[in-house]
Amino acid sequence: MKDKTKFTHIGRPKPGIATPVNLDVTRASTLLFAKSEDLYRTDIRGYGRHGSPLHDALEEAFNELENGAGTSLAPSGFAACTLAILSCVSAGDHLLVTDSIYGPTRNFCENFLKGLGVEAERYDPRIGAEIASFFKPNTIAIITESPGSLTFEIQDLPAIVKAAKTRDLKVIVDNTWSGGISYKPLNMGADISIHAATKYMGGHSDILFGAVISRTKDMAAKVAKTRKFLGYATSPDDAYQILRGFRTLHTRFEAQEKSAVQLADWLKTQSFVETVLHPALDCHPDHGLWKRDFTGGGCLFTVVMKPATTQQINAFIDGLELFGIGFSYGGFESVVIHCDPQLNRKFGDGFAGPLVRFGCGLEDIEDLKADIMQSAAQALNA
Ligand SMILES: Cc1ncc(COP(=O)(O)O)c(C=O)c1O
Repeated sequence: MKDKTKFTHIGRPKPGIATPVNLDVTRASTLLFAKSEDLYRTDIRGYGRHGSPLHDALEEAFNELENGAGTSLAPSGFAACTLAILSCVSAGDHLLVTDSIYGPTRNFCENFLKGLGVEAERYDPRIGAEIASFFKPNTIAIITESPGSLTFEIQDLPAIVKAAKTRDLKVIVDNTWSGGISYKPLNMGADISIHAATKYMGGHSDILFGAVISRTKDMAAKVAKTRKFLGYATSPDDAYQILRGFRTLHTRFEAQEKSAVQLADWLKTQSFVETVLHPALDCHPDHGLWKRDFTGGGCLFTVVMKPATTQQINAFIDGLELFGIGFSYGGFESVVIHCDPQLNRKFGDGFAGPLVRFGCGLEDIEDLKADIMQSAAQALNA
């Protein structure tokens, strides 16, 4: 069955007589028991922090999304990143982290984990099989993100997984960009796939939510145990909205992905643009890998602008009327940021000009183009 069909049916109550289409939201911290002998049973849920039938249904939706063996939910996408990592490391371990990882995750690995005695080392996202040259006797896991945050490098995941398997290292993928729709890393042998469900699953820029999907039952059990240790819980109302988001996820994703490719393709021909970093464009250096491993794109890409001053770039962004200036993406509305202040790269040759990241919403593409043109004319004399 195709994802689109699965997500209209998964996690819904069995019809009886006049059954609502959707599951009820159960709000509970305390769960009551008729008999005290049941309080400490390990085969049932004993407390609200451990979820609800709605949370179970949502976990199942994430499992279906990526063919996972188990999912743990987290209160934000970033919390899902830290949960996945903390499930794999202990003091004395060495961790390989892609240079292009989401900034707060890099900060967590390089600063917080350091305090716990875990050494994080960066690798070039384009390293592929050469990742093996970074392995140390105490290397425990590799954290990838493909395409990478802000700069959109595609990683050769099959080559990385193959190298990791020779040493039984865990491979963790932050799969937020693809929404799990156009990229299925667990099918390629990765151990964990992470989603900031805040983006496409939420879809309306009003919920923070995350999910950690594991390929095997063993890995899923480890992540679930870590979630319990950390006390992460998610609100049933948010879980309801995320499951609701799954119903229209595919359709929204396809529309936003299509707009992003059209906009990226058009932008690359504009006088104020040096190049566009979107892996679905054939000018992207990793387009071949993207074509091999992905079935589609995502709504987010970065434009390398022709050299311009910071004032000009800020004026260009401020002049946009349809793109909100703000972090995140995957909501119904288009967004934009300039990236240079948060780049923090160790590898690569840098870029010819400033970077501006666009996230496409559900607006009409011609309106988005017209908006960019009017602002570029004012701010960049384009
Ligand atoms: C790739 C990636 N991972 C994780 C996150 C964190 O998600 P959240 O904002 O839900 O904490 C983001 C947010 O932008 C992201 O882009």
